[in-house]
Amino acid sequence: MEVAEVAAEMAATTLGNPEGRVLRRITKIKKILEADVGSWAGRRVLVGGWVKTGREQGKGSFAFLEVNDGSCLANLQVICEASTYTLAELVPTGTSVLVEGELKPPPEGVKQRIELKVDKVLEVGPVGEKYPLPKTRLTLENLRDFMHLRARTNTISAVARIRDELAHATHAFFRQNGFRYIHTPIITTSDCEGAGEMFQATVLFSQAEKLAKEIKENPLPTESDVEAAKLVVKEKGEIVAQLKSTKASKPEITAAVSELNKAKETASRLEERSKLTPGIPVKPDGGFSFDSDFFKKPAFLTVSGQLQVETYACAVGSVYTFGPTFRAENSHTSRHLAEFWMVEPEMAFATLEDDMDYAEEYVKFMCQWLLDNSREDMEFMVKNYDKTAIERLKLVASSPFARVSYTEAVEILMGVTDKKFENKVEWGIDLASEHERYLTEVIFKKPVIVYNYPKGIKAFYMRLNDDQKTVAAMDVLVPKVGELVGGSQREERLDILKQRILDADLPLDIYEWYLDLRRYGTVKHSGFGLGFERMILFATGLDNIRDVIPFPRYPGRADL
Ligand code: 4AD
Ligand code: MG
Repeated sequence: MEVAEVAAEMAATTLGNPEGRVLRRITKIKKILEADVGSWAGRRVLVGGWVKTGREQGKGSFAFLEVNDGSCLANLQVICEASTYTLAELVPTGTSVLVEGELKPPPEGVKQRIELKVDKVLEVGPVGEKYPLPKTRLTLENLRDFMHLRARTNTISAVARIRDELAHATHAFFRQNGFRYIHTPIITTSDCEGAGEMFQATVLFSQAEKLAKEIKENPLPTESDVEAAKLVVKEKGEIVAQLKSTKASKPEITAAVSELNKAKETASRLEERSKLTPGIPVKPDGGFSFDSDFFKKPAFLTVSGQLQVETYACAVGSVYTFGPTFRAENSHTSRHLAEFWMVEPEMAFATLEDDMDYAEEYVKFMCQWLLDNSREDMEFMVKNYDKTAIERLKLVASSPFARVSYTEAVEILMGVTDKKFENKVEWGIDLASEHERYLTEVIFKKPVIVYNYPKGIKAFYMRLNDDQKTVAAMDVLVPKVGELVGGSQREERLDILKQRILDADLPLDIYEWYLDLRRYGTVKHSGFGLGFERMILFATGLDNIRDVIPFPRYPGRADL
């Protein structure tokens, strides 16, 4: 950082608010450590973070604290004297501190670049009991039992920063290319992939539970309770009739009518309540009834924002959605989550070729972005997890992806003699992860785009090719991960699309709106979905997708 920049940074640390009160800004440790020692030494700063390690020195006269604020991997060495604060309260790992002091170059021959000599300890969040994270390094798997504390570790905070960079890269890439960011719904009534792997969004269970609890406290009226109430109505009615026929006084009649109305109300309330059935409402044909559900029809968490974002592509042109998606598949692999984030661009007037070009350019852009913006965290990954991680980013950013048709890919795999696949290869199969990884890791040694898949294994919305056997689909396969991107040109021809929905055994009625896009001003259009966590796996070289999302959801686990 230049001296002028440091001066600007320092100016920003002391700002006057409208009442003239002085607001102090925290300086991020990243800023301090990035700068030349000369430009920061002697300056006063306010730093807030968590103690990684702390030790009392000089017979308890001062303490060294390694403080990390999450802005970067490195810690700032903080020195505090016993006259400033009770040192025993500062040194336990995990303690939070907000401290003020002067930056000093460390003594000759010490590896720290700059250290903070504290003269004010403004706030302390003590660690009263034993800190739950042990000092020895836990495996990433064991760390998943500390979902609320694991962000304090080097690996998980580095992943968080890389993830954030990739999100920014995504918005930058699409913005540069003239795309608009569209928020598609999380709750949906259409199954995009038609695979029936959706989580249901319903209040029927909580309603049933509430009712069951209420009935327990206040039992439902029996048939004879209802009969008795009806009898009261009859009696009260007779009284009114009698009073009227004997020409009784008006107040007398009014009072009797009021009694009758009350009895009627009680009877109807009892009758209504007696009809309540505990449990989930069923229809006469045995299916569930959604009439009393929140949306009055079955609704689900989305598996993909594609269908909805297509409506915007067919109006706004180039668009993308980037949000959480949910799949209730019982996958226990290191590549699947039940909740993951997907980036889904959709382009009007675009063919499969354009789609592949955009997917390739976008993945390259993200790789270059990490090389430019996440050096320290990527070097950490290289040192601790995957020696080739940075090399891989460079290679992908700079060399063209291979492209082969599905038919060619199957031919290549059928000719493989040095490896026995668990799943037999023949034309028509859905490529398994072992096949995908062999193609990208062994055959091409770089990302490969496989296109024109058999129609039988792909979703209904993909455009039927002239051979009538394949669809204009494409998957981007990358080393370490396998499938990173899945996309296609969409079927823009109404009749063919209708037939494909029927062939997939899906109900036409819920896709009528989707068919309307083809009825009114249809266009050739294409798009793809990139699994955001798979991109992070690919970039970092980590092995398990559960460690690249802050709060992983998978079969049997949904912590926090
Ligand atoms: O290939 P998929 O199923 O494609 C779609 O959902 C399309 N509607 C996308 C589109 O064309 N707009 O999923 C896209 C990507 C996959 O290539 C994979 O990277 C990722 O999403 N993915 C998962 N990531 C983590 N966990 C899972 N269970 C995933 N399922 C798919
Ligand atoms: Mg796919």
